[in-house]
Amino acid sequence: MGHRLSDWWLKTAYLDYRLPVVVHSSPGVVLPRLQFNDRHGQIRYAAKLIAGVLDFKTMIDNETLPVEYLGGKPLCMNQYYQVLSSCRIPGTERDSVVNHALSKRPPTHITVVHNFQFFVLDVYNSDGTPLTADQLYIQLERIWNSSLQTNEEPIGILTSSHRNNWGKAYANLIKDRTNNASVQAIQKSIFTVCLDAPMPRVSDEMYPTRAAVQMLHGGGSRWNSGNRWFDKTLQFIVGEDGTCGVIYEHAPAEGPPIVALIDHVVEYTKKSEMIRTPMVPLPMPKKLHFNITPEIKSNIEEAKKNMNIMVHDLDVRVTVFSHFGKNVPKSHKMSPDAFIQVALQLAYYRLYKRCCATYESASLRMFKLGRTDTIRSASIDSANFVRAMDDPAKQNQEKVTLLEKAVKAHRAYTDMAIHGQAIDRHLLGLKLQAVEDLSALPEIFMDPSYATANHYNLSTSQVPAKTDCVMCFGPVVSDGYGVCYNPMEKHINFAVSAFNSCADTSATRLAHALEDALLDMKSLLDQTLKSKL
Ligand code: COA
Repeated sequence: MGHRLSDWWLKTAYLDYRLPVVVHSSPGVVLPRLQFNDRHGQIRYAAKLIAGVLDFKTMIDNETLPVEYLGGKPLCMNQYYQVLSSCRIPGTERDSVVNHALSKRPPTHITVVHNFQFFVLDVYNSDGTPLTADQLYIQLERIWNSSLQTNEEPIGILTSSHRNNWGKAYANLIKDRTNNASVQAIQKSIFTVCLDAPMPRVSDEMYPTRAAVQMLHGGGSRWNSGNRWFDKTLQFIVGEDGTCGVIYEHAPAEGPPIVALIDHVVEYTKKSEMIRTPMVPLPMPKKLHFNITPEIKSNIEEAKKNMNIMVHDLDVRVTVFSHFGKNVPKSHKMSPDAFIQVALQLAYYRLYKRCCATYESASLRMFKLGRTDTIRSASIDSANFVRAMDDPAKQNQEKVTLLEKAVKAHRAYTDMAIHGQAIDRHLLGLKLQAVEDLSALPEIFMDPSYATANHYNLSTSQVPAKTDCVMCFGPVVSDGYGVCYNPMEKHINFAVSAFNSCADTSATRLAHALEDALLDMKSLLDQTLKSKL
């Protein structure tokens, strides 16, 4: 049943989902800004980064990755085997995912894209050893120098289209043998590195927000949106201006394995020094060619137009909450994740004077091939607390009791969810079983309350990392928010998103309300603690 459910979930949540993967599905990761501002710095860092990923890949290949634990229980490690050498393939009704890691001759190349031009770069020597950062530097420089012209068609932007349209355009694109071979080379590659052009400068405070936008969609067709293959599972982005991050296609894996890989790579780039390796002549990286027919050209123009609409519509705000991190809730014997979720409930309530259906992803990796279930963060207990918090008729002691209850209820739901006892995937299973059996759909699924319960105005996720980074993703409904956070010991990184086309939402307003909620909850606890002493 578990595998069946994972398979159903893969199809329902990802492969049958027809909206563009950009903004609507693929998460981005913003890494700390790097100290360079020219192409040498860019290439040097990209070389180290590639070497770092290959170092991680060795652990995957040798199956020596240490097993992860959650609440003392070992987790299924399968997702780690799905993120390299894999790619999504568009279809006119349903997409699919190919994974070349398990083929007889697994790929030995990555793809590099610069000025919208794709290159195949072999990253292993003939004796099977990975190229060193030094060798990679030379190869990347050759790629850079042979892609200086900036007037190439941004073929990659096709991957940002609505999936049905891209499915149709794809069938047409690969009719040409050259195009087919080029597309296959991208799909088979271990991962993609995007060497981005610099983006407009902004203040230090706004930098993480600007970087998040670059990771999520590339900034639009005149910036870096064409410098991607959005179907590729893993794309590392290194800008000439020191911007660095990742975008990944969500179907094969959740955030945590991606971030674990990133943590490894970031550590690797810190310690790796460029050691001069003896110069063996390396083959020239191969440029991938595309024959652009008038039909393909018109698909590209359409994709550019739609991309620019998405770019204008996405409202993002990345903030660093620097007052405290996991330390404060822990000192009050509260689960930090639950504390943050209750703060989000308070922030939302203060803005809208109501609660909303809230999704938090819970890992099901305690089960073989498990993906996620939903922690429903809006509960009776959270509602009781958020209503009481700003009520002048309520005493602080009562508010604290309600806060403690809300936090406990959230942690209890979390424990149920990670042990497979939540309701959402079970309901999905029942629904899809009825569809498969061609039996009548149980009434609950037709009830308006079911639709309301699944209209998540808040779609949230904790993706913790060792690196001081943050993952970000778009809202799942037109009038909603996406909220992702990385709680560190003494600060919390938040990424909030919304759509500009919705007049009622604002990422900045929610981000500020969230900061206020966290601070107010802390001072409530501090005051009551003091009065007890
Ligand atoms: N008192 C003191 N400390 C507490 C505490 C309490 N009452 N409750 C928890 N803590 C501690 C924990 O021991 C833990 O310590 P650590 O920092 O040393 O590890 C820390 O606080 C964090 O625990 P908590 O905040 O409760 O959350 P969690 O780490 O258990 O994570 C989920 C909760 C839901 C995020 C996690 O179970 C999960 O499912 N993660 C995967 C989500 C996912 O897949 N996201 C990606 C979607 S793309």
